[in-house]
Amino acid sequence: MMTSNVTLTDKKTSFNSFFLHRGKEGMEAFGQGLEQVREKLMKVYSDADRPFSGKTPFAIEKEIGEIMNFPLEGTSLEDVLDEIDGPVLRNSLHISHEKSMAHLHCPPLLPGIIGECIIGTLNQSMDSWDQSPAATYLEEGMVKWLSGRIRYPETSDGVFTSGGTQSNYMGLLLARDYFCLTHWGHNVQKQGLPKDFHRLRILCSEDAHFTVKKSASQLGLGEQAVITVKTDEHHRMSLRDLKTVLSRLGEDGLLPFALVSTCGTTDFGSIDPLHEVAAIAEEYGLWLHVDAAFGGGLLLSHSHRRKLDGLEKADSITIDFHKLFYQPVSCGAFLVKNRQNFGFLSHHADYLNPLKDEDEGIVNLVKKSTSTTRRFDALKLYLSLKTIGTDTFGQMIDHTMELARNTAGYIEGMENLSLKNKHPEINTIIFRCEPLSAPDIDLDELNRAIQQTLLHEGRGVLAKTTVEGKTYLKLTLLNPRTGMEEINELMTEINKTATQLMNGGLGRV
Ligand SMILES: Cc1ncc(COP(=O)(O)O)c(C=O)c1O
Repeated sequence: MMTSNVTLTDKKTSFNSFFLHRGKEGMEAFGQGLEQVREKLMKVYSDADRPFSGKTPFAIEKEIGEIMNFPLEGTSLEDVLDEIDGPVLRNSLHISHEKSMAHLHCPPLLPGIIGECIIGTLNQSMDSWDQSPAATYLEEGMVKWLSGRIRYPETSDGVFTSGGTQSNYMGLLLARDYFCLTHWGHNVQKQGLPKDFHRLRILCSEDAHFTVKKSASQLGLGEQAVITVKTDEHHRMSLRDLKTVLSRLGEDGLLPFALVSTCGTTDFGSIDPLHEVAAIAEEYGLWLHVDAAFGGGLLLSHSHRRKLDGLEKADSITIDFHKLFYQPVSCGAFLVKNRQNFGFLSHHADYLNPLKDEDEGIVNLVKKSTSTTRRFDALKLYLSLKTIGTDTFGQMIDHTMELARNTAGYIEGMENLSLKNKHPEINTIIFRCEPLSAPDIDLDELNRAIQQTLLHEGRGVLAKTTVEGKTYLKLTLLNPRTGMEEINELMTEINKTATQLMNGGLGRV
């Protein structure tokens, strides 16, 4: 008996340095670990003169394969950090680099990064109050702050999500269940889809995010349920086409129940005419979900906040903080105008959120989410807003807007480049290289090759996209530390690369 107790105590003690606790070993290991990570990352960042190592997918896959072995006896953190130095740290995309400007993928703010360390250390889980006693109220406070910025009414509510995909899904789920209940008295949560579900339709513009279709498929309606409305010359939802589509659906006996409007489309950053779209949604009794994953960042802008006027009319809203709010992935929010609609998600589990808790006023946030275990992401946004201040935050966003406008002007003045969006709505630029000296060159192939060459030589990270069947280059200018100097250098690289590719015999049409 004695012997086995001693063994157990010895074993327990031998785990001390693996966890943070009030004992000395845990504290020391935590401090040392943070210091070693700090040293390592500072070295990697001070060497990062390019946004990407430029290695091929195959080379990186091989390097990662070589470190995928786990010893019986542990290795020191310092040694493991050295082992991942090349394969992981130096082969990662340096998203904070001034020439990293491909996707809606932001450089994370330092308070957000430090927030991640606190979030991981505290490891609160946002599903039930007894797993997140303070975090529950901090998240609720952040939702309230956000609702205030949106000018949402007192009836509104919200929850943090993993990002736009989850928030869009939640918006359409509530829209579907609200319609089925109010139209047919049918409870989808309890009874599954109603017999006439195949007549249900969701409308969005042809430039809306693909997650609208993905949500429809996951909601059992199928992608066929999504009807796309044409966009105008600025890639905003065409009101005329919206009305045409609605009357056609009526004639065909179909049942439109949700309208998804985009506030900041992924490619052009276009914002649908929110007031007008809201009026049509009201006229036809549609649930209006606004996907403001990207455009929601303008909530803090000093010069462009008015572009979001009308957002407050939406029945539900998607906002992402890992885009224009500069938070580390992942961090988003979903809001509803009428908190009662969260009822479509709520489920009482005896072990987690029994009804009795509710009677006693205990707040279990699981009732508002499609997730159960959930991160305390609200903290990193809180720390960022507090330490940077909303005024400076707005200035950062406005700087990127001005940079986008100046970049558009600059590209417009260049001989070999053709600009697609002369007046960027937010901060994306769509353009392509169209050299005058080589009229017979395959321009799609040329632009794709430019993007690939710059990436694989680590000289610049930009995106490519397709507009009206043609390949374009795209800059997403989220980084407030990027300036015209980097843009000038990048455009010079693009022209130089185009010349090299054409001299190297790139395909002709
Ligand atoms: C307009 C829009 N909505 C939704 C999403 C999906 O967001 P997430 O990647 O955070 O899930 C994106 C992603 O870029 C987006 O641009």
